[in-house]
Amino acid sequence: MNPLAIQSNEAINKAAPAAFALLSNTAQRLFFPKGILSQSAEAKDRAHKFNATIGTATEAGGPMYLQAAGRYFAELSPAEIFPYAPPAGRPGLREAWRKKMVQDNPGLKGKAYSLPIVTSAITHGLSLVGQLFLNPDDRVIAPDKIWGNYKLTFETVLEARIETFAMFDAQGGFNLDGFQVAVREEGRRSGKVIALLNFPNNPTGYTPTVEEAQSIVEILKAEAALGTKILSLSDDSYFGLFYENSTKESLFAQLADAHPNILAVKLDGATKEYYAWGFRTGFLTFGHVAGEPLFAGLEQKVKGAIRAGISNCCHASQTVTEKMLKDPDLSRQWQEKFEIMKTRALEVKRVLDQPEMVKVLKYYPFNSGYFMCLKLEGVDAETLRLHLLDKYGVGAISIGSSDLRVAFSCIETQDIAELFSLIRQGVLDLKA
Ligand SMILES: Cc1ncc(COP(=O)(O)O)c(C=O)c1O
Repeated sequence: MNPLAIQSNEAINKAAPAAFALLSNTAQRLFFPKGILSQSAEAKDRAHKFNATIGTATEAGGPMYLQAAGRYFAELSPAEIFPYAPPAGRPGLREAWRKKMVQDNPGLKGKAYSLPIVTSAITHGLSLVGQLFLNPDDRVIAPDKIWGNYKLTFETVLEARIETFAMFDAQGGFNLDGFQVAVREEGRRSGKVIALLNFPNNPTGYTPTVEEAQSIVEILKAEAALGTKILSLSDDSYFGLFYENSTKESLFAQLADAHPNILAVKLDGATKEYYAWGFRTGFLTFGHVAGEPLFAGLEQKVKGAIRAGISNCCHASQTVTEKMLKDPDLSRQWQEKFEIMKTRALEVKRVLDQPEMVKVLKYYPFNSGYFMCLKLEGVDAETLRLHLLDKYGVGAISIGSSDLRVAFSCIETQDIAELFSLIRQGVLDLKA
């Protein structure tokens, strides 16, 4: 094993043995090499005469670049676009995101959480977390309503297994009993629980209530108290889009200092929250009572994984995200779009709660995010999806045999009634 890997393993183990126990075999081998990047960093400070270290090109004291590309970035300087960004991201952006995170999650105040590491959006963050904490055959506990891509990352590539429990109870709330049983069983089986918490949820658009969120935290704390090592993974892709009757904080805020046996991870980003999908700018943040000594070791591991996979993330979009976060008009602009999304969500409910709709279309609870999900009875979801496309030119996503996901994020409010009336008609056609 590389001596640098041994060094950070020892640092992590000393700071938080439970966090060390959660590391995968890959993570234990991972390290951030003292190669070109660290030699260049040293030269940046000390090579006053000539700096011939890094594999970029310079002229006249700035990056060399082609105007054919540069002309599209009228308000950014070449230095904010063309050079490599540091492997963990632009320092100013990392600080700005940390500030935003604590503003949005007052429960984080005074707790130990790391400086966010920049990822190439949340998909990349999930893949990094998988590399760090999953060995083949490890299990990830998740509700039975999940974003399909988790399977590709965790199961197909990393050979772990996603173990699901029914997401909703009979009353239409988050199935706390089901979650507790899944956590307990996995704790007894392996001594290690990896809990995937994605709220607002894709595909249902559900976020737990304040009380449910508290109970989820209590369930994990109780399991941790029995000695089980727990990784809580908050996928907060749709954070902030909370429309009614839900917690408005990430569960990460409560889990960050919940117990020494709990290592909390938060994945979030500009992609959904700030409608900048193509920027590929996201963040990975750790929370644990051990604080900086642990975070420093873990950051070396994450940087090693980033360096191995993509080297570093797009610089131009990091710069724009940083400037956006510092824009005094940002919160007004964000609120404006939030109101549009909320109006659409409430319109979906108004339409679906009308008597002629209730008879044909049932839906899972939703209160947040981009999506809602129909719970079909008596028709197959994929058959309905194809029928809606063929006969009515309506596109939706079928999930399994009974769920149809509708993204109200891309349907104007005035079109929502017509959309659902066509879906209703499609169901009636197939039943006839
Ligand atoms: C729950 C969830 N997590 C992560 C992602 C990936 O987001 P990103 O575009 O930031 O990679 C998505 C995208 O659909 C998602 O729905």
